[in-house]
Amino acid sequence: MSYKAITLVKRPETEISNDLFEVIERNQPKLGEGQVLVQVTHLSLDPAMRGWMSADENSYIPPVKLGEVMRASGIGEIIDSKNERFPAGSRVMGLMGLTEQSVSDGSNLNIIPKDIPAEAILSVVALPGVTAYHGLFKVLQPEENQTIVVTSAAGSVGSLVGQMAKNMGLTVIGIAGSNEKCQWLKNELGFDYAINYKSEDFETQLKSAATDGIDLFFENTGGIAQHAIFNLMNAHGRIAVCGLIAEYNKETPAPGPDWIGIIKKRLTIQGFTMPDHFNKFPEYGQALGEMLMKGDLKYRAHVLEGLESATSGINLLFSGENKGKLIVKL
Ligand SMILES: NC(=O)c1ccc[n+]([C@@H]2O[C@H](COP(=O)([O-])OP(=O)(O)OC[C@H]3O[C@@H](n4cnc5c(N)ncnc54)[C@H](OP(=O)(O)O)[C@@H]3O)[C@@H](O)[C@H]2O)c1
Repeated sequence: MSYKAITLVKRPETEISNDLFEVIERNQPKLGEGQVLVQVTHLSLDPAMRGWMSADENSYIPPVKLGEVMRASGIGEIIDSKNERFPAGSRVMGLMGLTEQSVSDGSNLNIIPKDIPAEAILSVVALPGVTAYHGLFKVLQPEENQTIVVTSAAGSVGSLVGQMAKNMGLTVIGIAGSNEKCQWLKNELGFDYAINYKSEDFETQLKSAATDGIDLFFENTGGIAQHAIFNLMNAHGRIAVCGLIAEYNKETPAPGPDWIGIIKKRLTIQGFTMPDHFNKFPEYGQALGEMLMKGDLKYRAHVLEGLESATSGINLLFSGENKGKLIVKL
């Protein structure tokens, strides 16, 4: 029996193109002692994958080597096992790669419940949820009645940040790239304001929404909204720099905000990446699962079909055409 996988064969200079990847066919291996074979059912496409494709050795995680299966996280079922911690039939989540099947010693896998839809797990309890949870509660440390601005607010991380902040009693201003996304944020998720950063009067709309200034800024994008938001920060405001997707495909990053403003307003700005907080995932996952079950968090998943849809599909994250968590169903 054989299965398909996608390897990285070239590094992107700017945008991600199909010629960076090769679809290969592999024979199902014979398992060694302690190994398991996973039949992958769902893969998560994440903006971080763009960074993993680049040659940068100074990042928080080493790059994918050329010729290796492209790194990606996913969900699957153990179909053969020589590891008693992971019996056949278990459902698992972990870094599996863009592949239909994956062999593992279990170190990259966690057993997950079978009764929660895969889309809910990947959208809420997995990376987007723990990122939103950590960035909001541990980095920004929100207080009731504060005003928070979230960029890529209709995305998987941003939509959860905004909902959790709203549930705590903050005034939530979401920034997104289409009117459809803004309507979803206001009408379905209950954001106080949702502003399309592509509107000509974006800054005017932001000023009239943030009448008391901005206390907290959850930054997912960089790009044209960043300076306008920064300029409206209140004294002692806090900024969590989670992602800068507007910069990932550029050769030279855009200049950041003015450092004098950081002094004058005594701002706290903190970047963070979730692999540093791996030990907190069970705690955050439990809290997110409870919020999901109580109906306190809504999500939407954008599902593509088939392994090969992953290579062009990932670009939906950069064009903004994804509506919610981008997932490949195998
Ligand atoms: N620090 C960490 O550990 C960590 C973990 C997970 C994710 N992240 C970061 O969090 C951010 C959101 O990730 P996600 O998985 O939730 O993705 P997402 O928000 O679901 O999807 C990406 C969105 O980014 C927006 N975007 C793309 N290009 C843009 C541009 N030039 N200017 C403004 N917006 C742009 C698009 O929405 P619009 O239609 O609204 O433009 C697109 O839908 C990313 O920057 C990611 O790298 C960081």
